[in-house]
Amino acid sequence: MQCLLVFMLIVLLLLCFSICEAFECEFDAENHQFKVADTIRVDQSGKGDFKTVQKAIDSIPSNNKKWIRILISPGVFREKVTIPCDKPCIFLEGAGRLLTRIEWNSHMRTCDSATLTSFPDSIVAKGITFKNFYNIPLATIPNIKNTVKPALAASIYGDKSAFYNCAFFGLQDTLWDVQGRHYFKNCYIEGAIDFIFGSGQSIYESCEINLTIGKYAPQYPNGYITAQGRNSSDDPSGFVFKSCVFTGTGKTYLGRAYGAYSRVIIYKSVMTDIIVASGWDAWTYVHHEYAIKLSHFIHIYVYIYIGDQSRFLLRGPTLLGEIFEILFVG
Ligand SMILES: *[C@@H]1O[C@H](CO)[C@@H](O)[C@H](O)[C@H]1NC(C)=O
Ligand SMILES: *[C@@H]1O[C@H](CO)[C@@H](O)[C@H](O)[C@H]1NC(C)=O
Repeated sequence: MQCLLVFMLIVLLLLCFSICEAFECEFDAENHQFKVADTIRVDQSGKGDFKTVQKAIDSIPSNNKKWIRILISPGVFREKVTIPCDKPCIFLEGAGRLLTRIEWNSHMRTCDSATLTSFPDSIVAKGITFKNFYNIPLATIPNIKNTVKPALAASIYGDKSAFYNCAFFGLQDTLWDVQGRHYFKNCYIEGAIDFIFGSGQSIYESCEINLTIGKYAPQYPNGYITAQGRNSSDDPSGFVFKSCVFTGTGKTYLGRAYGAYSRVIIYKSVMTDIIVASGWDAWTYVHHEYAIKLSHFIHIYVYIYIGDQSRFLLRGPTLLGEIFEILFVG
């Protein structure tokens, strides 16, 4: 019996932390760029190649190395989308985050509730909203606490993944930036509790972070924007917010330490009065916190989107200097 339990636990952990093999997509050396080799169209009206995003992903051959664009028409796609390990080099392109939305409402388990789960390296998405509508609007039952459940909009496991003009809607645990080097540009991220969390090594640039905890006061008096999971001094992970806007309703901590060396850097960003005075919460690492100024750089690799919808460059490492604020708990 005990054996079975242990076995089940291991299976569960494997499911949660499946790590794919590193993968390089085909590079056009002559032009120094990555080029989209093929486009698959997804359209609910039947005018495309497929009616669901998942069917389009499934149609790509295993271990494909060419960049494949999946062009998704305007519409609300009620489906859970998983990009498995053997499908790297996919460019998901919507009609804009106000027009193309993928949504589902799984909840409870952090590891499999996300509306988008992306496992492989080298995934780019642009102009798509990913939403988990389980907690929105929250079905509050009077006098019963904790009706909010982890319900993820996206889990990003792969390395070298980039999101342009995307939106992520949730309440608790909206965006699991699990691990790997990620770049989020001009994205909108909404939530209330630990809504950007994980051990990713990521830059969030020109993003809008919208806190919604205000709607749930007094039951939930304050929120937490980040829960970064860096767990040792040589763990390269960390979240950098560069030129972002932090807005919303209610009060929130910028983050709480999800790992003993949790690292979040906020650079040239704008904040409204939603942030509590103390800024950060050490969570289970109380009495181990110290803030340092650091002239240190974080290295990540990013896909730079060139804009004619079919090309991107892999540029790296990106160096960010002049870092002025960091939580360094250890
Ligand atoms: C620390 O985090 C890394 C991912 O960033 C993970 O691979 C490793 O297992 C973690 N170690 C511990 C002790 O939790
Ligand atoms: C923030 O989220 C709330 C709740 O979804 C919404 O009403 C509000 O318009 C959002 N704010 C911005 C600036 O997008």
